[in-house]
Amino acid sequence: MLKPIRSDLNKIAVSGIRAFNNRVSTIDGVIRLTLGEPDFPTPEHVKESAIQAIRENFTNYTPNAGMPELRKAASVFFDKKYQLGFSEQEIIVTVGATEAIAIALETILENGDEVILPDPVYPGYEPLITLRGGVPVLIDTTDTAFKITPEKLRAAITPRTKAIVMPYPSNPTGVTLSEAELAALSDVLRDTGIYVVADEIYSELTYNSPHVSIRPMLPEQTIVINGLSKSHAMIGWRIGFLMAPESLISEMLKIHQYTVTCASSISQKAALEAVTNGFDDTLPMRTEYKTRAGFVLDRLEKMGFQVIPPDGAFYFFVKLPDSIADNSFDWAVRLAEEQQVAVVPGSAFSTKGDRYFRLSYAASFDQLALAMDRMAAFMK
Ligand SMILES: Cc1ncc(COP(=O)(O)O)c(C=O)c1O
Repeated sequence: MLKPIRSDLNKIAVSGIRAFNNRVSTIDGVIRLTLGEPDFPTPEHVKESAIQAIRENFTNYTPNAGMPELRKAASVFFDKKYQLGFSEQEIIVTVGATEAIAIALETILENGDEVILPDPVYPGYEPLITLRGGVPVLIDTTDTAFKITPEKLRAAITPRTKAIVMPYPSNPTGVTLSEAELAALSDVLRDTGIYVVADEIYSELTYNSPHVSIRPMLPEQTIVINGLSKSHAMIGWRIGFLMAPESLISEMLKIHQYTVTCASSISQKAALEAVTNGFDDTLPMRTEYKTRAGFVLDRLEKMGFQVIPPDGAFYFFVKLPDSIADNSFDWAVRLAEEQQVAVVPGSAFSTKGDRYFRLSYAASFDQLALAMDRMAAFMK
């Protein structure tokens, strides 16, 4: 018999989204509003640069941190967009934002360190924190319009707090933080030594005003996660950017190097094109997502849901009316079985998720319209 593998892996559950998808995937004709993937193709000019890279046999390893031209171009791109001020030496090209998050946590956490997260939150952080021996500390934001407030943050900080993860615009709520709200949080975090992991993967998808990053407010403490998955509809290319002060980046590089060596050379060529000549590639997608968000918001409100209008990303996190007795898992299963519409039960994202569901509008307008008709029939 083999010796046992590490025991803490049994603390990690299969993602709630996956579990629910498996449950409803056999239902005929189901419209999935469950996915967090753009439904747009990667821009043509980006695809062409990758094709050319293959033709030119650009198929070897790149430097571990990524192609120097790409790190330079990414530094310019993020500085022009959000005044991040990271030099090319302060950027690692990673395998999606996911690897960037994993490396950031792996680098800073020691056993017993606490990491503050908003609740509800993207389910990708907690397992990584737990595996690294850290302790997730959730701040309930369901009564503050899904925003962390300075008061709540202050109350959550202890001597063991090592980091806070700030995913804005948020998956699953679509809510983001304004410059004034970020400034107020910065005042609490400044001089605490706490790392701020700012997951800004949805930064290009904001509908009311341009994205503001917390990095210029806390330049020494902030680790920024970004990537091209959402902004350039490049999920499958797996390109992310991990950005941090150089003293941290040099340590992070050790983990990146011995885990993946480097991101795909072909994808890096595509990424170089995206950040060099695709500055405005998100615009048509953003316009379309905004139209869909307005349409879905109107339909949900007419059905009797109370909804917090999203500022960005492509999700609604919707509360079930009190008149519905079911918890959101049972409710979502019935919706899928009776009206062939799939949304994710909120328990995948939140300790309070029993009364919520996440709806993704990264689906075509026709599909969304049909889904809203079916949901309206279900709500009757
Ligand atoms: C908040 C958040 N961060 C990170 C990721 C992962 O991004 P990537 O596909 O680039 O790894 C996602 C994907 O849905 C996300 O929603």
